Amino acid sequence: MEQPMLLMKNISKSFNGITVLDSVNFSVNKGEVHALMGGNGAGKSTLMKILTGVYTADEGEIFIEGKEVSIKNPDDARKNYISMIFQEFSLIPTLTVAQNIFLTRESKTSLGLLNDKECTAKTEQLLSELGVDIHPDDIVEHLGVGYWQMTEIAKALSQETKILIMDEPTSSLTNKETEVLFFFINQLKAKGYSIIYISHRMDEIFQICDRVTILRDGKYVTTENCKDTNLETVIQHIVGSDLNKAFEWKERSYSTDVPPVLEVKNLSSGTRVQNIDLKLFPGEIVGVAGLMGSGRSEMVRSIFGIDPKDSGDIIVDGKKRNIQNATDAVKAGLALIPEDRRMQGLVLDHSVKENIILPILSKVKKGLFLDENKADKMANELVQKLNIKTDDIFKTTKLLSGGNQQKIVLAKWLANDPAVLILDEPTIGVDIGAKTEIIDVVRELADSGKAILVISSELPELLALSDRVIIMHEGRIVKELKRREINSEEELEHAIQGY
Ligand SMILES: Nc1ncnc2c1ncn2[C@@H]1O[C@H](COP(=O)(O)OP(=O)(O)OP(=O)(O)O)[C@@H](O)[C@H]1O
Ligand SMILES: [Mg+2]
Repeated sequence: MEQPMLLMKNISKSFNGITVLDSVNFSVNKGEVHALMGGNGAGKSTLMKILTGVYTADEGEIFIEGKEVSIKNPDDARKNYISMIFQEFSLIPTLTVAQNIFLTRESKTSLGLLNDKECTAKTEQLLSELGVDIHPDDIVEHLGVGYWQMTEIAKALSQETKILIMDEPTSSLTNKETEVLFFFINQLKAKGYSIIYISHRMDEIFQICDRVTILRDGKYVTTENCKDTNLETVIQHIVGSDLNKAFEWKERSYSTDVPPVLEVKNLSSGTRVQNIDLKLFPGEIVGVAGLMGSGRSEMVRSIFGIDPKDSGDIIVDGKKRNIQNATDAVKAGLALIPEDRRMQGLVLDHSVKENIILPILSKVKKGLFLDENKADKMANELVQKLNIKTDDIFKTTKLLSGGNQQKIVLAKWLANDPAVLILDEPTIGVDIGAKTEIIDVVRELADSGKAILVISSELPELLALSDRVIIMHEGRIVKELKRREINSEEELEHAIQGY
């Protein structure tokens, strides 16, 4: 049999006496796209950080093309042709594409820095080889997130690479950008690169990957050929039990004979939000469906005062509110959990507790001081409710896994106890088990009388949550459906595509 490109054997790792990886095996072939899957905190990123020399394993061996290697730092990883695109973007937004790509090496050349011209020329060559249509002098922050991702890949491939690791590359990409990325991955695969692909999106795994390895709670579970397995089996391995009922819809009861909690009248903002009329009743969950670019995020951003309104009234609990910015919105009793929360909202060097109670400091004060007991209690409750995986509430947030950091953003907004909760793609980046937990929490909140507006591109999730679904197209609400009138996912998909 052919030598695997990469073999990681019996890898173990603990942090402060807590085992995070327990004798894990992992192997990747040449020219293969290999999915690494598992719940939030399963150890995926840690395993990859060991491969890239960010951490060193306590035990275990790594072989590249059959030869044992010692990877003690990122330089060792580079020498072994390993590159990684991290879960958090590493680009500096105010610099150009070329500057970003050569940033690390630039600062390292002892014989003076690469000059700008040289950087630009090299970047131009690299980008054209990769077939990416951006210019080396483009400032990164002016590019769409999809191109950030391409720039990250170009940066990774600017050094000789055989193994490329992508940690949740699509979680901030649109469907279209994802398609471009997949096209790109297939090209790299054809060129013989080995790609390790981490994602929580099940559909992607079957679209792009050849094999899948699953970890659970730091342990190796199995490796399967994607062709020979199916979604249910993979989910079972990830969560360790059956999860079929989790996405089931339960009809909820609430009254529409009472005044709405939120009323939006004739809201327009730019070209992307046109004449929106919307009512949310206490206890109601309204799902917003639509294609990418249909104006869903823009609508909620405008309601919340992030984008300016050209016209329209926002009425909360019967009172007209002048919402010009997010502070006004919060005062009016609204909360928005935005789509791009991974780049905002958390102070990574602070503890889990500090992050959770940040928006509610005034509620947990005793005189001038913080009521630590009360704060601990609230933080602990939310950690439990959202099943955030952390040793305790005092752990530094950046040491939590990516998905668990996302849950903290949710916890933070829930702590504030808003009257209207707006969620934009609430389960991006969280594992399949956590998705169902978040769905349960949202339902519970609605049961307690809050009104909830949810944008989601994942139709099973939207169908599990919504009492009513509105469909947007070109900035307008073009259709409204009662959940019980929708018989299947296909039917909803059809309704969305029908414009
Ligand atoms: N430097 C560290 N110190 C302490 N604990 C850590 C450290 N790095 C990771 N951990 C812990 O190791 C566990 C595994 O984290 P890891 O980031 O590998 O998970 P993951 O599988 O990538 O999850 P996600 O899907 O949420 O990104 C988590 O419980 C995390 O809190
Ligand atoms: Mg991770």
